[in-house]
Amino acid sequence: MTEETPPPNADDAAIDRWHEAAVTAGLGVFDRDLVAGSVYRSPELLAQWDYDASTADRPADAKAVIHPDDRARYEGRLVDIDSGAADSTRIELRMRARDGSWRWVRWTARIAGRDANGRATRVIGSVADIHELHEAAERAQESQLRLQGIVDSAMDAIISIDEAQRITLFNRAAERIFGYGAGEVMGQPLTMLMPDRFHERHPTHVDGFGHTGISSRPMMSQRIVSAKRKGGEEFPIDASISQSSLGHGRIFTVILRDVSIRERTQRELAQAREDLRELSVASRTAREQENSRISRELHDELGQNLTSLKMDLAWLEANTPADESRVRRTLVAMRSVLDSTVAATRRISADLRPLMLDDLGLAAALEWLVEETARRHGFDVDLQVDELSANIAEPLASQIYRIVQESLTNAGRHAAARNVRVHVRAIGPEIHLDVQDDGRGIAPDDLRKKGSFGLVGIRERVYILAGSVEMRGDPGRGTAIHVRLPIPAEAGS
Ligand SMILES: Nc1ncnc2c1ncn2[C@@H]1O[C@H](COP(=O)(O)OP(=O)(O)OP(=O)(O)O)[C@@H](O)[C@H]1O
Ligand SMILES: [Mg+2]
Repeated sequence: MTEETPPPNADDAAIDRWHEAAVTAGLGVFDRDLVAGSVYRSPELLAQWDYDASTADRPADAKAVIHPDDRARYEGRLVDIDSGAADSTRIELRMRARDGSWRWVRWTARIAGRDANGRATRVIGSVADIHELHEAAERAQESQLRLQGIVDSAMDAIISIDEAQRITLFNRAAERIFGYGAGEVMGQPLTMLMPDRFHERHPTHVDGFGHTGISSRPMMSQRIVSAKRKGGEEFPIDASISQSSLGHGRIFTVILRDVSIRERTQRELAQAREDLRELSVASRTAREQENSRISRELHDELGQNLTSLKMDLAWLEANTPADESRVRRTLVAMRSVLDSTVAATRRISADLRPLMLDDLGLAAALEWLVEETARRHGFDVDLQVDELSANIAEPLASQIYRIVQESLTNAGRHAAARNVRVHVRAIGPEIHLDVQDDGRGIAPDDLRKKGSFGLVGIRERVYILAGSVEMRGDPGRGTAIHVRLPIPAEAGS
């Protein structure tokens, strides 16, 4: 590229050579004679810029061509040069082109001769049109500022590193999250932001990533899931890394967020769920125990009393003379009331809690339940309970019993089933309960029917036992309920 002014202390021949080269390069050239007070302006200079042709040989004319806002700066430089204070000068300013538009130029000047006092006698220089360059630079700066704004307002930390893994960008969020000012980390190795145990492995990770050619990916796969604050505190992060190739190398950008609050909230939520579940278990257990107590009282106390009443009534009947017909009729009515009271007491007692469950275990209780329901609804039940499940302890036993009870009732009430299969098996650490009917098949909408609590109850029981449940209806072919319940260590037999 051509120098925009001749070299210092150039002789006339050198200045001529420079002049020629500058003109060839498209620069406008001027040559001022400060003693004579005249100026030579090259044809290129005059052709391009809006000089007044009649005054073009007078230096003062230049002012009119320079943008009013830039004039003071221009004149300051001129004084520096003319007084001999500066050897050369260079300034960017706007000049009026022939078409009247203002264009950015680079104006350069150099002293080419001095008097005995050191003041300039000859000054030469050039004017280069750099308008496009200037505009491009301004646009670049604008977009740089815009980008900076985005980067700085981002909630996530944005950190760029060069190929040597030194930090080249550190936004505000990064400052907030890590506790470092950008000035403290710029140019430092990225490892300063990582827990020590990652120091060795990490650089190879990034290198490996650089060679994959992938432009971005979450960092989970890199297993860098925690970072280190200024004080040394470690914290969990979600991070992704991306790379872009620049002319002179690659840069990697990491976007990350501090997820310690999220993780803590998740932990607390899980804990609250667990607490709630335990509470439900406790309250269900308490209710079952209460039911069991009332059921036993009904059965033992009331049942015994009713039985003895019945015996007394039988004795009365046997000992009442045949001609006492009114008394005999009353006795018959009393016996019928007594019979239905006994039946009601049994029913209420069994509904509250099948005592068989406590006395004979789950298998026996289910057998009784299945027999009762099958008789009531007129379907056949294939019941299979394996050995381990037959004697499973509380709270599983009563929950399984209640789930089967609700499922059988549903099969009777809604399915119009002819056959129902009830299988209870221990598989590994779980009890698997399957209730399958061959009825009309539950509709998807019915799985969460408003105002219905049977299926909700099943789900809740399964939930408090930390199990899982699937309910599936096949239209016209039946409904299947599959429940899996983990066996607590102390509940196995
Ligand atoms: N085995 C089944 N076959 C077909 N439809 C069923 C079956 N079980 C349940 N449904 C349908 O799903 C709905 C919801 O059942 P759910 O047991 O929750 O309530 P419910 O039996 O109607 O009332 P309840 O609260 O007394 O149990 C039922 O109303 C019925 O329409
Ligand atoms: Mg129901």
